[in-house]
Amino acid sequence: MAQPEEPLKHIISHAKSYGFIFPSSEIYEGLSATYDYGPLGVELKNNLKNYWWQAMVRMHENIVGIDAAIFMHPTTWKASGHVDAFNDPLIDNKDSKKRYRADHLVEDYLQKIAQKIDKEVEKARTKFAPNFDENMFRQTNANVLKYSEQIQNIEARFKTALETDNLADIKALIEELEIVCPISGTKNWTEVRQFNLMFSTEIGSLAEGSNKIYLRPETAQGIFVNFLNVQQSARMKIPFGIAQIGKAFRNEIIARQFIFRMREFEQMEMQFFVKPGEELKWYEYWKAERIRWHKSLGIPDTHYKFHDHLKLAHYANAACDIEFKFPMGFKELEGIHSRTDFDLKAHEQHSGKKLQYFDIETNEHYVPYVVETSVGLDRLFLAVFSYALQEESLADGSTRTVLKLPKAVAPIKVAVLPLLKKDGLPEKAREILRSLQMDYACQYDEKDSVGKRYRRQDAIGTPFCITIDHQSLTDNTVTVRERDSMEQVRMPIEELKNYLHAHCART
Ligand code: GAP
Repeated sequence: MAQPEEPLKHIISHAKSYGFIFPSSEIYEGLSATYDYGPLGVELKNNLKNYWWQAMVRMHENIVGIDAAIFMHPTTWKASGHVDAFNDPLIDNKDSKKRYRADHLVEDYLQKIAQKIDKEVEKARTKFAPNFDENMFRQTNANVLKYSEQIQNIEARFKTALETDNLADIKALIEELEIVCPISGTKNWTEVRQFNLMFSTEIGSLAEGSNKIYLRPETAQGIFVNFLNVQQSARMKIPFGIAQIGKAFRNEIIARQFIFRMREFEQMEMQFFVKPGEELKWYEYWKAERIRWHKSLGIPDTHYKFHDHLKLAHYANAACDIEFKFPMGFKELEGIHSRTDFDLKAHEQHSGKKLQYFDIETNEHYVPYVVETSVGLDRLFLAVFSYALQEESLADGSTRTVLKLPKAVAPIKVAVLPLLKKDGLPEKAREILRSLQMDYACQYDEKDSVGKRYRRQDAIGTPFCITIDHQSLTDNTVTVRERDSMEQVRMPIEELKNYLHAHCART
């Protein structure tokens, strides 16, 4: 399979050309780390949302949804710890005037050492194949051991510096590692300082007096503050969950890698409230359930892995990420966190209101523990889109660009194509279009040769193309072409719905 040299650039360009994603305010040179979803992008995004919502809310009797406001009382963010601790360590290069996240500079450095290890392994694999024992090699090779030790030492020092908020030592580490600015190539760094990631604005007119409020940096707090409202109004019994899809905002310093790290993005979060002491059992349950859900999209298992957190946030007693193999390597797609009773207790303290559950079986009140699943919708979009976009070499020597999106989330499910623009074929085609439109997102196309139209539909990921030809007028049959195999079958028009129903979810 022919693959482009710079996959991410190819993805960005394809997403723009076909109306999936545009840079925001492009006519004004764009606004960094913000993107607009175009006609096909919004369909794909909505389908991903529905796919999640159906799995989480519709398929779980004990999970209900909410849609909380983006603006919340400012004390929310004091209670959650975001005002005091939602920071990134920043450093500037004095020559290029570019700003970096100090932790990213160190992580990139560590990644380069890890790449050296991989190179040693690959070299040895070629040399000693087929009897190469990778585990043994990693445990005994002098170079690999030297590099591994370097990584461990740097990680340990960096972790201590972060935990003790020792910004001077982070700078010292960057200097000792001789990390240079990728733009200027110099080591002329400023001090490291903490930068809060929340966007703030003012609420109320000046006459009324104004108050600083924040754009929520996560949707989860809208769930926590509504815990009792939902539990009581929906008569939920523990264990139960509250799910939400919505926008979140973070003033990311280094916003890069397309829609991977944005300043305005969407999260799909679910907080699962459980009896204290049962949280680790439910944490394992949600780990298994969420990876199963991702894999149900049909992307190979090798594209996913868990990354268990060794360093836990102060409120968590277990945490991991589901990582996906993005074009730039394995990176976080979803977080699963056992958040204890930290958030509810903090809101109790700051609001003075009880946020407790009354267990009628044991006749006791308690603050529930929480297991959270949190996936970024835009990251999920990038995961699915980047995997799906393929350059395929065909048997006749030509290539095609095909977007092998999971059928369930493809923005257009069916293309309806009259072979010619005359002889009553368009009329017949529109009749078929109207009969399918209620159940499936369809596109009608009569321009250019049918071959070109197939290519256009391949490029936007349409699973089925229905072609109406002269025979259709006499025997009411059409051909259906399947995107991935490119196989065509002829079938009666009256069987189309059953065929599509068997092969593709309605949307
Ligand atoms: N409530 C927990 C929480 O917000 P997080 O790990 O900070 O945890 C959860 O974020 C998910 O949100 C991430 O796994 C990622 O998919 C997505 N996400 C976070 N920051 C993002 C950003 N700047 N751009 C796009 N997605 C982001």
